[in-house]
Amino acid sequence: MRVRKSVWGLASGDETLYWYGRAVAEMRRRPIVDPTSWRFQAAIHEYVRAWDPLAEDGEELPSEDEQARYWTQCQHASWYFLPWHRMYLHQFERIVAAEVKKLGGPDDWALPYWNYSAGAPSRLLPAAFRVPASADNPLYLPDRDPACNAGEPFADARDVDLGDCLDETVFEHDPASGGSSFAGAITAFSHAGAFAAHGVLERVPHGSMHGAVGGESGWMGSFHTAALDPIFWLHHANIDRVWEVWRRLERGATNENTADDRWLEGVSFGFFDVDRMPVEMRAKDVVSIEALGYAYDDTSDPLPALAAAMKKAPVPKVAPRLVGATPASTVLDARATRVVVPVQPPAAAAAPRRVFLNIENMTASSRAPSYDVYLNVPESDDPAKHPELFAGRLSMFGLMEASRASAQHAGSGLNHVLDVTRLVRRLANESGWDPSKLRVSFVPSGQFGGAPVTVGRVSLYYQ
Ligand code: C2O
Repeated sequence: MRVRKSVWGLASGDETLYWYGRAVAEMRRRPIVDPTSWRFQAAIHEYVRAWDPLAEDGEELPSEDEQARYWTQCQHASWYFLPWHRMYLHQFERIVAAEVKKLGGPDDWALPYWNYSAGAPSRLLPAAFRVPASADNPLYLPDRDPACNAGEPFADARDVDLGDCLDETVFEHDPASGGSSFAGAITAFSHAGAFAAHGVLERVPHGSMHGAVGGESGWMGSFHTAALDPIFWLHHANIDRVWEVWRRLERGATNENTADDRWLEGVSFGFFDVDRMPVEMRAKDVVSIEALGYAYDDTSDPLPALAAAMKKAPVPKVAPRLVGATPASTVLDARATRVVVPVQPPAAAAAPRRVFLNIENMTASSRAPSYDVYLNVPESDDPAKHPELFAGRLSMFGLMEASRASAQHAGSGLNHVLDVTRLVRRLANESGWDPSKLRVSFVPSGQFGGAPVTVGRVSLYYQ
């Protein structure tokens, strides 16, 4: 059994990261046609030749067929997000472990994970990835947010908050419903994810941390370069761990992965294994991490204090329904932007069990920072002064990818759904709630400037 350990818990003198660095250096020396090379591994996530920062003129590339089957496969805004990245990490970890062994290292090497949700110091980039800041350090990369690489604070508590995702008991949702879920929308193969909303875990901390580490132009901020950064793999090991934490939570209701056959068996994804042999994997092959041969050193509930407050009502059987939407699109930029959503609550209905705010069809011409959303901030106030009205953080990881037209989609943009049930309930109790209209404010996280974001529609759903 390989044990994936917290990078923060590694004892001084522990050699896990030393061997990771040695293997990374070795994999970087291999040509991109080699499936066990660093660049081939990153290309599995996404490859765009015109934007490959490491492209060399005249170098040999895998055949068109091979590229079509094995590259640009990452699954986003989809219920395949979690299982696909688990498969990806599993094959990668085995390749690295074999390399470590070949280089004379231990034979039980496992990928460490970066748990950034354990307080402010845990949000700093682990030192081995930035010191020494030189090409001799295989874990160092200049293409990151400058504060991140300087060992300074660069992500805030909202980037790493696990409250939203661990509070969600629904695994998957119908993308047309206006609802949300832990793992994402029911989709077919979904690379750029322009059709559906992200699952809660994919939005925060996954997307928000990609945005924070990548900053304005760093590699972690784009699909086609993210996996070239050695920290990518520790970030995803943590996301994979949080999936396991969620599944093991004991909070009255037990969380379960979906039993839907379309998820378990519907799509087969191609990879190369440690022996450079093609393999096919489906979600059903990765539901058990024990069966894959690894474990995490910690899958305990990180928010036990919240457990008591989260008595889960059973999930309503009715589908959410649209009760209001903005009539026109809105542009978000460096200032706080406010929109008013006119609401027509269903006549004589009981209070909704759940309330969802949908932010639909976000597009931009280049990268944008995360945005914070607030509800019903008084007209002349600065939303940032009202943390009690905070509704959620919108990560913009994948924004460009979902904005550009491709063979598979028209570039209809990124979608996020925020479960605002608790906030709306509190507003209603405090008479800060007007059932006929909702004011929504958007404030950039301030991590970097970036391009304006066009939001197609803001809508409200009651369930
Ligand atoms: Cu496919 Cu974190 O990205």
